[in-house]
Amino acid sequence: MSLFSNVARPALFRLGGGDAEHAHEWTLNRLAALPAPALAAMRRWYGFANPVEVFGVRFPNRVGLAAGMDKNGIALPAWPALGFGFVEVGTVTAKPQPGNDKPRLFRAKASEGIINRMGFNNAGAAALADRLAALGPLDVPLGISLGKSKVTPLEDAVEDYLTSYRLLQPYADYIAVNVSSPNTPGLRSLQDKDSIAALLNALAGPVPVLVKIAPDLTEPAIAELLEVCLEHGAAGIIATNTTLSRDGLASADQHLAGESGGLSGAPLTARAREVVRFVHTESGGRLPIIGVGGIMSVDDASRMFDAGAALVQLYSGFIYQGPDLVLAVARGARPSRVAAAR
Ligand SMILES: Cc1cc2nc3c(=O)[nH]c(=O)nc-3n(C[C@H](O)[C@H](O)[C@H](O)COP(=O)(O)O)c2cc1C
Repeated sequence: MSLFSNVARPALFRLGGGDAEHAHEWTLNRLAALPAPALAAMRRWYGFANPVEVFGVRFPNRVGLAAGMDKNGIALPAWPALGFGFVEVGTVTAKPQPGNDKPRLFRAKASEGIINRMGFNNAGAAALADRLAALGPLDVPLGISLGKSKVTPLEDAVEDYLTSYRLLQPYADYIAVNVSSPNTPGLRSLQDKDSIAALLNALAGPVPVLVKIAPDLTEPAIAELLEVCLEHGAAGIIATNTTLSRDGLASADQHLAGESGGLSGAPLTARAREVVRFVHTESGGRLPIIGVGGIMSVDDASRMFDAGAALVQLYSGFIYQGPDLVLAVARGARPSRVAAAR
């Protein structure tokens, strides 16, 4: 048991009377306020260099922060100090929006899972662009995740993504097209062949564009999507987002099963890895994969690499295990030869 799981996690989980979103906001604000000497000390402790180049971008290590943790990029310098080799901010939308009504974030503690229906609460693409301009370049690669504004009809989705893309592309080392959140009505239908083709054509440019997919797609649907991604110049796939399934929820968490939203964490581990393996095999290794979903241990990360991931990201694992997991994965996860060669 680490200092994090013995002391920090119980304290964080008690904040705000146990309200998960309150703890999230509190922690983000504390991280955003850390002074430079504290960041430097953390970096000496948690930083681990194991550089790798993937889709033409050089990463100091293979472990990234998944989208949704720092949607508005308010604590950006803290993430490399906590050991992350890259950061994905967002998902942001062209128009600022409040997201769904609260409560919308639930810890399924016995399952080491999280259920969320945040609904892309964010300050909008222009606010993020202003913040990034003021901050200057990060010293790790920055991915920017784009989604569709809730008020924009699906038929105008491409223009909505394009508005965000134009504002944010100058700051991005890669762009993630999020078409897989379960919390914006209709969004997942953009994973169909024609919509992906239209989006990839619109966002074609100098910055690598990756497509983030849902774990609930069937294999034929993923295969079709991969074909379009290869044909229209996607730089890679991020697999996966949260799941609508409630499989793997412990009996002590069954009272949460009826909460709508996406489930992440340990219940998603096996399915996310299965999707990564399928993407890797089906694309013949031609599309680099960022593997995300239920990486709660070094072994989970190693298996994700063995399934074909070139990089990994953490969200729920970071909530439950803290920064020790980032360092352990950066240092200890063993990519298979296939993944290491990319
Ligand atoms: C509270 C919360 C908010 C999230 N918000 C986003 C988001 O805005 N965009 C996105 O692409 N994924 C989002 N995700 C999904 C994560 O990036 C990740 O794909 C998913 O949680 C699976 O990884 P994990 O099991 O390590 O958490 C969110 C996840 C959680 C728990």
